Amino acid sequence: LGGSNAAGPALGFQPVRASVADRVVVPEGYTAQVLAPWGEPVGIAGQMPAFRADAGNSAEEQALQMGMHHDGIHYYPLDGSRRGLLCLNQEYTDEGLLHPDGQATWTAAKVRKSQAAHGITVIEIEQRPDGWQMVRPSRYARRITATTPFAIGGPAAGHPLMRTIADPSGMTVLGTISNCAAGQTPWGTYLSGEENWANYFTASDVPTGHERRWGINKATWYRWPEFDPRFDTVRNPNEPNRFGWVVEVDPMDPKSTPVKRTALGRAAHEGAWVAVTKDGRAVVYSGEDAVFEYIYKFVSRDKIQPATKDKTAAQANATLLDHGTLYVAQFNADGTGRWLPMVHGQGPLTAANGFADQGEVVIKTRQAADLLGATKMDRPEWLAIDPNSGWVYCTLTNNSQRGTAGRPGVDAANPRTRNTMGQIIRWKEALDFASEAFVWNHLLLAGDPANERPEAKGNIKGDVFAGPDTIAFDNRGLLWIGTDHSASAQGEFARMGNNALLACNPVSGEVRRFLVGPQRCELTGAAWTPDGRTMFVNIQHPGSGSPRDGSNPRQFSNWPDFNPAGRPRSATLAIRRLDGGVIGA
Ligand code: FEO
Ligand code: CA
Ligand code: CA
Ligand code: CA
Repeated sequence: LGGSNAAGPALGFQPVRASVADRVVVPEGYTAQVLAPWGEPVGIAGQMPAFRADAGNSAEEQALQMGMHHDGIHYYPLDGSRRGLLCLNQEYTDEGLLHPDGQATWTAAKVRKSQAAHGITVIEIEQRPDGWQMVRPSRYARRITATTPFAIGGPAAGHPLMRTIADPSGMTVLGTISNCAAGQTPWGTYLSGEENWANYFTASDVPTGHERRWGINKATWYRWPEFDPRFDTVRNPNEPNRFGWVVEVDPMDPKSTPVKRTALGRAAHEGAWVAVTKDGRAVVYSGEDAVFEYIYKFVSRDKIQPATKDKTAAQANATLLDHGTLYVAQFNADGTGRWLPMVHGQGPLTAANGFADQGEVVIKTRQAADLLGATKMDRPEWLAIDPNSGWVYCTLTNNSQRGTAGRPGVDAANPRTRNTMGQIIRWKEALDFASEAFVWNHLLLAGDPANERPEAKGNIKGDVFAGPDTIAFDNRGLLWIGTDHSASAQGEFARMGNNALLACNPVSGEVRRFLVGPQRCELTGAAWTPDGRTMFVNIQHPGSGSPRDGSNPRQFSNWPDFNPAGRPRSATLAIRRLDGGVIGA
């Protein structure tokens, strides 16, 4: 560890205290400005319906506005660090906040509005004397929703298990949902993970084995199947196979068709992050945020191509992620590990075991990983690659089922029973990001030494936290950690307060709390302008848990508007230093 700077990047700010206030707290000398909350029109010319604080916007208006529950986010420069695009995920909806009377009544129009509030958003922003502002209208402004057409790339394209009545060729999917974390590719595109998609589908009274392995049950949180048969697996048994992919978007081309990249495997994908091998191939790391599931990597067959005079870099690499090898991680007790290839015909991945071809291997990635004997992890969320050392980091957010009756026990990588706190694991590939062997250890086990239960104490050097979720490295190699622990800061979480953003020197392990969010939110997403002087993070689901019938939308939070007739809204924060310096330095 360490590279050129043996001590690692300095933490140059005064830590903030834990807080349970309904506001954003940042260190002295910093400001956090609210940008692009749910419901703001994104800026499509001639179609900019104003947000209605009573949630009275229609489905058609919502499809032209910021979606709900901002998550992964990246910045794409148009004019360096002064003007650019933000591409961000709208992970899910809180139906009690989305409609004036929540789910007290349930209609086809509400399903359409819910679907329009999901997906991915592109907005243009610029720095003005009064701070960062949305540029509206903008020719880049775009909403991708749960009904936008997607192409399918890779081995599952056209596969019999991808075909439906509406799409007999299995080549076009309507929409993306549960878009959680996000990565940025070296060729200028955006990768987004479809995470908790299984919750949108309903199964019959007796789900199939395939449905059970993916957590598709009779009950559905979102109640879409009542008015949209696409999400009823009795009528559309293959529709779930069309979700759970990493999707790729070219934010610079608002007319481009987004693509589901099936070669990367199907999962409850948190997100996807790219490293580059010495010979110029792309390696995409991803994990799935579900208890006892896996960490994956994909190594592209071909090298990343530069832009040409006819093609942008995005266009030159339009099929790069469709060809390559998928692997799943095995962490050994001795601190070594292996990437197990998930290739049809190799080892147990044969027709006799239920995999007709590579398409079926990637559609049934979980079942294939089970057969290979990969390591069952404590909910892998974000991954990040240290620009100085090349170590790869992954948050394992928690797993309170670990070691309980009938569930897998502890192992070296997931060492705590009833793991309520989470840990951050890291590994170094043997020779190159394409290597099949690695060594690993833990950066830290999260927790609070004041807790009684030994498994909840952790070993953090510095400010305590739980539920590490977002991680991202800035240009200097400081590791930023966004938390997502239980909404009410009680019990083992009492001293942690609301969810927070912390910074960690990965060489020394020192952790400092940088920002605390409003009540019942989580901190998610982390992106910077190229100069490192603005950081973008998202405040997701402030006030979560208010009644689903919409009767008390301000019960837990009214951030950021504090409108007595309004409701809490997820939003992006643009964080600056008052002296214009580099964030965190
Ligand atoms: Fe969408 Fe795993 O957080
Ligand atoms: Ca997350
Ligand atoms: Ca989480
Ligand atoms: Ca979450």
